[in-house]
Amino acid sequence: MPALVDRFGRTHTYLRISVTDRCNLRCLYCMPEEGMVFMEQDKLLSYAQILEVAAAAAKFGIRKFRITGGEPLVRPNLDELVAGLSALPGIEDISLTTNGILLAPQARKLKEAGLKRVNISLDTLDAARFKFIARRGDLNRVLEGVQAAAEAGLTPIKLNCVLLKGVNEDEIETFLKLSTDQPLHVRFIEYMPIGHEDAGWRNHYLPLSKVLEEARRLGYAVHSVEGPQGSGPSDDYRIEGGVGTFGLIHPISDQFCKNCNRLRLTADGNLKPCLYWVDELNVKQALGSEEAMERLFLRAMDIKPENHEMAALLAGEKLTHVPTERRMSQIGG
Ligand code: 5AD
Ligand code: SF4
Repeated sequence: MPALVDRFGRTHTYLRISVTDRCNLRCLYCMPEEGMVFMEQDKLLSYAQILEVAAAAAKFGIRKFRITGGEPLVRPNLDELVAGLSALPGIEDISLTTNGILLAPQARKLKEAGLKRVNISLDTLDAARFKFIARRGDLNRVLEGVQAAAEAGLTPIKLNCVLLKGVNEDEIETFLKLSTDQPLHVRFIEYMPIGHEDAGWRNHYLPLSKVLEEARRLGYAVHSVEGPQGSGPSDDYRIEGGVGTFGLIHPISDQFCKNCNRLRLTADGNLKPCLYWVDELNVKQALGSEEAMERLFLRAMDIKPENHEMAALLAGEKLTHVPTERRMSQIGG
């Protein structure tokens, strides 16, 4: 089987698999507080169907899977999917992006099924602010999840922190300290306008240059480093003397598409060549036919765009193509 190389010479080795669009939180940068309509359960790919797509991907040289949502741990028996994925030939890495709320009781079982590591969303260390950002849930459960992941060996643990102007920018110092005091990898992420290019985004978007400015202001000696396993689009740093690292994922202030190696599978069975644009390919039609599945992956390479245009959007310029209407929870980040 040929490798998955797109028109711009980028080889694809990474598939993100969203298993549900449902979530037990309502983070303000991801979903509206009320009225979110979720996919009907019978529209979701079964684990067997996901594994069929994943097996085709593995034959094409995909080496790394990430399970995402919505919140993937709200889908029952996720360890069964993990076990199925880890049994596929050639797979080097299986990771999970979670909000951490349901992680503590499942961490060990997931590890035993073959999960290597987790990324946990953590935008604040203040309980009241957590309620403001996530609108539901309890920060303590997330912190218990981080602890349980460390104990189960789901490492290196990455903490995803979406920086929001006027909301949590005053916690940059706290998060930087966390990355020096503990073997954690804090990744600051720029707020992206996915599926809701609205006033909220313009008001709360914060370029990540702010993080390095803050580190400088605090007098930290910051060194550029090779990030932990699977750093992907993040620029990674270590504060001198620190045990962890921090990373910047800045899709808007600094394009990361040049090295894009990823495809996405949505919970309702669509292959998305790019997070940002509307294009997707329906995998349900290809299920049951290896040939059709192969054609689908090759087609994804043909239509993969060179880059997103979020910076142009911020500048008020006209876009060359149509952005997706899916929200982040319907794609999986
Ligand atoms: N911009 C940036 N990051 C986002 N995430 C969810 N929505 C957005 C957004 N609009 C993050 C989550 C999670 C990861 C999958 O993506 O916090 O950590
Ligand atoms: Fe749920 Fe993640 Fe979206 Fe927050 S960002 S509402 S935790 S899917």
